[in-house]
Amino acid sequence: MNPVYFDHAATTPVDQEVLDAMMPYFSEHYGNANSAHQFGRDCKVAIEDSREQIAALIGAEPSEIIFTSGGTESDNAIIKGVFEALSRAGKTEIITSPIEHHAVMHPAEALKRQGATVTYLQPDSNGVISADQVQNAISDKTAVVSLMHVNNEIGSINPIGEIAAVCSEHKVPFHSDTVQSIGKIPVNVKDLGLSALSISAHKLYGPKGIGVLYVKNGTPWIPWLQGGSQERRRRGGTSNVPGVVGLAKAMELSMAHMDDMTRHFNVLRKAVMNGLNKKFGGRFVINGPENDGVPHILNIGFVTSGSDPLDGEMLLLNLDIEGICVSNGSACTSGAMEPSHVLKGIGQTDAIGNASIRVSFGKQNTVEEVNYFIEKLDGILERMMTTVS
Ligand SMILES: Cc1ncc(COP(=O)(O)O)c(C=O)c1O
Repeated sequence: MNPVYFDHAATTPVDQEVLDAMMPYFSEHYGNANSAHQFGRDCKVAIEDSREQIAALIGAEPSEIIFTSGGTESDNAIIKGVFEALSRAGKTEIITSPIEHHAVMHPAEALKRQGATVTYLQPDSNGVISADQVQNAISDKTAVVSLMHVNNEIGSINPIGEIAAVCSEHKVPFHSDTVQSIGKIPVNVKDLGLSALSISAHKLYGPKGIGVLYVKNGTPWIPWLQGGSQERRRRGGTSNVPGVVGLAKAMELSMAHMDDMTRHFNVLRKAVMNGLNKKFGGRFVINGPENDGVPHILNIGFVTSGSDPLDGEMLLLNLDIEGICVSNGSACTSGAMEPSHVLKGIGQTDAIGNASIRVSFGKQNTVEEVNYFIEKLDGILERMMTTVS
């Protein structure tokens, strides 16, 4: 069996069609999109066509699409930029949650050190924040609300349309990190009423190091990366032309095949659940939603009968030896021995949090791979559980 890659929430391979679209922009059309000559113009056209295409795919205006280096930059730029614009008018509160990606949490914490108030809304045990919670927390001091659409570790889905309606009623900008939802579930900024969202290409079979920050026209926001006049002076830096072209293609393909993919992921998820129930009934829990989340993310915590918890890091390494690649939390935090902040945030115990793995499917995964995973997991857990209890 070839290596089994079950870590698509961390990153995905670049799709061949995406790569084909990008290739001419490395060494054939290699101009600087800001140059006035024909080499520059070719690239400018490619960038503006991609901008229009991406805007249409999410229901935005082209002028509202800003190319960035990915999800981390988009999250930082919007939170810091809205806060800078509004704190001058006495709006110094940021409302977010304790289970956001660190690309949202760390900028919020950095602003806290500079005097911001950060309010964390407590998610339920499935990782969901309600619009009522936002309604109760929001005030005339709130500068920005940032709550993710799909959680990268447990796959929970926030009701961001309802949350956006509350924010809009209070005239507070609402940003949603949609890095894990774009191409997986419908995202349309007009239907949802978002002020801002973040996209990253490498989560949807596009290249790494390119993404989008959508900012609705009229949103108070001060761009933070100064430099050249690119992106209408909202994000300096020579344009990543192959990246932009690849991102547009990746979004087009993932949105076109979204329904087929959902069906495919449901089949794989069901196969994992059947295997888990058959082999480990009563000895595992699903962290986050079992049925109401995105189907391609499954976070499994193992329950031991002995007093020593199972070591999730060891489990991950043992699976890796068998050629199965999963994650023990967000890829960005792997290496840390603490249970992930997301599992802690939904109230999971340290013992189960530390004994949890995240499986995230992609389009090439098969039921045979799921069966292989369950079989190997069985052997590994048998050995590990005998050792701990
Ligand atoms: C929800 C979420 N936001 C932001 C990011 C960061 O995106 P990027 O890797 O493009 O910086 C990730 C990546 O793990 C993510 O899952």
